[in-house]
Amino acid sequence: MKERRSRRWTAPDDLRAFGHRSRLKQLGWTADEYARPIVAVASSWNELNTCHAHFPERAGDAKRGILQAGGTPAEIPVMSLGEQLMKPSAMMFRNLLAMETEEVLRAYPVDAAVLMGGCDKTTPGVLMGAISMNIPCVYLPAGPMMRGHWRGKTLGSGADVWKHWDERRAGKLSKESWLEIEDGIARTPGTCMTMGTAATMMLAAEALGFSLPGSSSLPAVDSEHRRMAKLCGRLAVAVAEKGLRPSDFLTADSFDNAITAVLAAGGSTNAVIHLIALARRTGIPLTLERFAELSARTPLLANIKPVGEYVMEDFHMAGGSRALLERIRSLLKTDALTVNGRTLGENIAGAECFNDDVIRRLDSPVEESGSLVVLRGSLAPDGCVIKASAASSDLLRHRGRAVVFEDMADLKSRIDSPELDADAGSVLVLRNAGPVGGPGMPEWGQLPLPKRLLESGVRDMLRISDARMSGTSYGACVLHVSPEAAAGGPLGLVRDGDEIEMDALAGRLDLLVEESELGRRRAEGGRERRRTLSGYGNLYVRHVTQADLGCDFDFASRVPGEADEPDIF
Ligand code: FES
Repeated sequence: MKERRSRRWTAPDDLRAFGHRSRLKQLGWTADEYARPIVAVASSWNELNTCHAHFPERAGDAKRGILQAGGTPAEIPVMSLGEQLMKPSAMMFRNLLAMETEEVLRAYPVDAAVLMGGCDKTTPGVLMGAISMNIPCVYLPAGPMMRGHWRGKTLGSGADVWKHWDERRAGKLSKESWLEIEDGIARTPGTCMTMGTAATMMLAAEALGFSLPGSSSLPAVDSEHRRMAKLCGRLAVAVAEKGLRPSDFLTADSFDNAITAVLAAGGSTNAVIHLIALARRTGIPLTLERFAELSARTPLLANIKPVGEYVMEDFHMAGGSRALLERIRSLLKTDALTVNGRTLGENIAGAECFNDDVIRRLDSPVEESGSLVVLRGSLAPDGCVIKASAASSDLLRHRGRAVVFEDMADLKSRIDSPELDADAGSVLVLRNAGPVGGPGMPEWGQLPLPKRLLESGVRDMLRISDARMSGTSYGACVLHVSPEAAAGGPLGLVRDGDEIEMDALAGRLDLLVEESELGRRRAEGGRERRRTLSGYGNLYVRHVTQADLGCDFDFASRVPGEADEPDIF
């Protein structure tokens, strides 16, 4: 058997290894402890990440599992990306978390890792780092929080916030009620409990093969979540012994499975960006077109907010991720290997569904297919997406006049102005909100509707931006327009009153302006804005790729067939 990685630090009879051993003894370790598999518990926890409040306890559970299986645990905190409180956007720091995860796991004497994530960007962040390091690892999902409550009704993260905020802006919800909603919408540790980006990416990680079967939908505060954490620790020791690395089980089939699972769940559009980034770190080609192909054949079965009616707690009680995956078995590549050494097909075999309204049957889906649509055209030459299942169906084919906002500050200052020249058929355009322009591609893509139109009963309009949208959001929002305005994309050339046409059924998004006029505007200079940033922000805007390439750093993707970076020891 190949010698474990950590033994390079601790086994040799030389001066350096003496230093390593003596300092591990300083930590109280005995010689037999550092001779065992050393398993890192990479916990993305801090006291301002609202969704990971239970991580100290779960890290303890995972460490107990590692000890029980004969390993030695070492908790190694990594950057915690709390979606709600980080500005300008947690997305800006996803690549930093990936770099940190990769480098701490490479730099320390570690044979395997338990990767703890959940709140939106933490899952792709730790997985991207572990894939680049190509270290044996098990992903431990944070799990969703319990349902929100308000006056006997269920509240769903995000989805019900936007809905009630629109009612409040339309003058139909009192301040007292609004404050009651604030008190009741986030009651326990855990991630957003709708099918937002967190739940979507936890499901995607399971379908990719990184986690224990059924773990991704387990509520954070369920006692089974503690048992699952312990089992993750035990499994991490087993993969350390086997030397099973991400490259040993991740294939193009694994990514097809993850995309299909996300589509059947009505998952977040953010998954498009994250899955492309993950694939590019493995060297597996993945394009927007693959999402379009799989979307065209995948029914939406999970009846969960923001698209459906229920929340993640209901989903779990109905059978959770295993039941959903079993329902779409015929669409999955069931031979794909997973981290526990079994195939995805074996992991979901026999999973039962206990509520056919929460997880629909193939013959009674929430939507037949096409929940995610990829658009291209003169306004988005490199593509963009719309979550068709979350949009008003009458807006999926629409032509209207543009009302353009230069950036978020411009939007905030004018959206409710009585002078704003917009009607229900207008197309609201926000630019300079992409990876470079935001910076960090904030979740501003669900542009607020003008108050005047809300008061008159309008609840959806076609909106277009180079931003992202929260997975808990809804509406006819065209997102991720590439190239973004700040990178010289045609979004920067749109003027008030221009005609824009979207045909989601044909996959088109076009700016109906003569090329000669666009050339004139281009010569005048587009309306792109780049901020001058220092430090990490400077590195970010110089190296981040566009949304169609996953918004990873241009130096982080792996060339197909490229070998692992060797340890510098
Ligand atoms: Fe953390 Fe939604 S804010 S998952």
